[in-house]
Amino acid sequence: MNKLADIREHYHKGSLSKEELNVDPFVQFNSWLDEAIKAECNLPTAVTLATVDSDLMPNCRIVLLKEVCDGGFVFFTNYNSDKGQEIKFSGKAALNFFWPELERQVRIRGTVEKVSEGQSDDYFNSRPRESQLGAWASNQSELVDDSEILLTNYSNLEAQYADKEIPRPAHWGGYIVKAESIEFWQGKTNRMHDRYQYVLSGNKWQIKQLAP
Ligand SMILES: Cc1cc2nc3c(=O)[nH]c(=O)nc-3n(C[C@H](O)[C@H](O)[C@H](O)COP(=O)(O)O)c2cc1C
Repeated sequence: MNKLADIREHYHKGSLSKEELNVDPFVQFNSWLDEAIKAECNLPTAVTLATVDSDLMPNCRIVLLKEVCDGGFVFFTNYNSDKGQEIKFSGKAALNFFWPELERQVRIRGTVEKVSEGQSDDYFNSRPRESQLGAWASNQSELVDDSEILLTNYSNLEAQYADKEIPRPAHWGGYIVKAESIEFWQGKTNRMHDRYQYVLSGNKWQIKQLAP
């Protein structure tokens, strides 16, 4: 077993200066996401979603980014899940993208809203049938007594919807994290990393540099 304290990374792949940042953080984000896709980063749209529960206990899990629009970041899930309950409780969330191959991190904080029914329908209808059935078959975050029950649920639904269009469950859809701050982090040598945080002030984004 490696001694964890001896594992060290050296960051050297890039740098970021205020001059090269786009004034619009969404343009900046999309260009970093494009670069992560082009660099064949593993799961480039995977993002850690952090919420708090009603005891203010933090929780986090990975979801997949599906759209960047209307000043926010969209993902899809089960509205009854733990994350759904936690979002209902606080109305706030944070997101963290990490693209290790580029030594980059993006941190986003903001308020959360459900996307429109139409947007959820459009995305649900674009999914493979197996994923659509999965949204019906699993009560995400609830206790499972026996995995056979899940498989039986799935098979029953498969039979029920054979040759039929599968409607979106009302408890499944999208959320948008409306960003209030977005930070771009680029790893650098000697831990002198570059950090720039965009903060929404009124309807204008201000850019601040933060110490690493
Ligand atoms: C790579 C990856 C992608 C995932 N994408 C999603 C997603 O888009 N939506 C989702 O609800 N769960 C997704 N999950 C599962 C979540 O991490 C989590 O297990 C699930 O949503 C239940 O979380 P909760 O109990 O906190 O609500 C993904 C997990 C991984 C590892």
